[in-house]
Amino acid sequence: MAKIIKKFDGGYKFNPFLCEDETNIIIHHALRVNGNIIEVGCNRGLTSLAISKVCPTKIIYAIDCETPTNKDQQYEVVALWAECKGINNIVCINANSQTMDLNLFKDIGMVFIDGDHTYEGVKKDYENSRKLIKEGVIIFHDYKPDTNYIWNEVAKFVDELSIVEDIIIYSDTMLAMMEITK
Ligand SMILES: C[S@@+](CC[C@H](N)C(=O)[O-])C[C@H]1O[C@@H](n2cnc3c(N)ncnc32)[C@H](O)[C@@H]1O
Repeated sequence: MAKIIKKFDGGYKFNPFLCEDETNIIIHHALRVNGNIIEVGCNRGLTSLAISKVCPTKIIYAIDCETPTNKDQQYEVVALWAECKGINNIVCINANSQTMDLNLFKDIGMVFIDGDHTYEGVKKDYENSRKLIKEGVIIFHDYKPDTNYIWNEVAKFVDELSIVEDIIIYSDTMLAMMEITK
């Protein structure tokens, strides 16, 4: 009988951060945009993995870093899981999305922003993403304009952005999407 030396199932059976509708909306956009995809704040990579399965010809750049509230080495979890599942189109990046070198990214069609949820953090991730996309979409998670919501600074930033840009809010989800056209 074989001896199990490495048993790994990714830790979660379902994504505790995104509901099924949100994952489906993200997959819908990932499929329709041209170019590669960035997930800012991939955590254990469940969303990156979901995208990678349906977009085998696109590169998914999955970024995460250690934060005061998240001491796990999440990018290692993503890498290990991708390896176990034989997925080879995810690039796991251990970095702070706000300070990393953006030149690493090539031909980006979509950025999913779900990392630093402070106003300044979301703003910086948006500004970096905007520089990378000529045509495509930027999607924000945790858009919830509720003063009691822990991460309501995302909504503050997105609401301000909506004064100058067209933003689609997906009702019954916490997703907000901005389309960038040439
Ligand atoms: C809500 S979780 C993301 C969930 C993930 N998007 C998913 O769908 O499973 C937020 C993640 O953002 C990461 N994070 C926070 N600030 C970051 C930053 N400046 N750069 C990269 N990752 C960051 C945290 O370490 C955490 O794992």
